[in-house]
Amino acid sequence: MSIKKLGYLGFEVADVPKWSTFATTKLGMMEASASETEATFRVDSRAWRLSVSKGPADDYLFAGYEVDNEQELQELKQNLEAHGVSVKVEGQELTAKRGVLGLISFSDPFGNRIEVYYGGTELFERPFVSPTGVSGFQTGDQGLGHYVLNVEDVDAALAFYTKALGFQLADIINWTIGDGLSTTLYFFYCNGRHHSFAFAKLPGSKRLHHFMLQVNGMDDVGLANDKFDADRTVVMTLGRHTNDHMISFYGATPSGFAVEYGWGAREVTHHWSVVRYDSISIWGHKFQAPA
Ligand SMILES: [Fe+2]
Repeated sequence: MSIKKLGYLGFEVADVPKWSTFATTKLGMMEASASETEATFRVDSRAWRLSVSKGPADDYLFAGYEVDNEQELQELKQNLEAHGVSVKVEGQELTAKRGVLGLISFSDPFGNRIEVYYGGTELFERPFVSPTGVSGFQTGDQGLGHYVLNVEDVDAALAFYTKALGFQLADIINWTIGDGLSTTLYFFYCNGRHHSFAFAKLPGSKRLHHFMLQVNGMDDVGLANDKFDADRTVVMTLGRHTNDHMISFYGATPSGFAVEYGWGAREVTHHWSVVRYDSISIWGHKFQAPA
């Protein structure tokens, strides 16, 4: 299958300026564009990786996946249509806004917008510089990072994301959240990153549970952890996940969903076998009520 990586994410947020401050001073992203109604951010040589648009939802708006070229975009479109997905070929206005050469859009079974494109914009002539001094974000062949959606029908989600989109299941975790609450998390890869996407049927009404940014050094995680700790916005303490072995913490965003900030993940290999786990973490990742 032709999807190669997660390219970008878009959120609908109530307070765009607050998000700009958050993304630049807490996460170390570089502002690429900003207005009262929309802002975009960079983490690498690409023109943008995260977009926040003003709106009441404070939730997921879209994810953009990247294929290598126009032929792969056509093949993916045909595969989606063969699985009964209605695909829109986006015109000049949106391709120009996204800075890509070709773009299609469609929805998953729950109405979550997904975009697939080829030909993203590189800005090597304007080097990425982190305003907080982050040594760098792990992107490249592994794409932007990952995100986790709350879905109401796990079987429908499995069928769509594996068959229509072509993701590979990495593993599942039977997660006991606490107080008799449990769920199953499903993790999917489309490149060496252990998961670019995951879903579960979760408590709460938000579509987006969290998104993840991977930095190049453990000190980058520790320095960010101190910033979230200073204003009591750590929602899950530092820990190491069982499945991707990432050392990370989770912080609150201005929109209520969380951001995971991590380092040191292992990658999937050519001989990857699907496994299951009974715990999300080897150590740490304790829930912490934000102030
Ligand atoms: Fe995560």
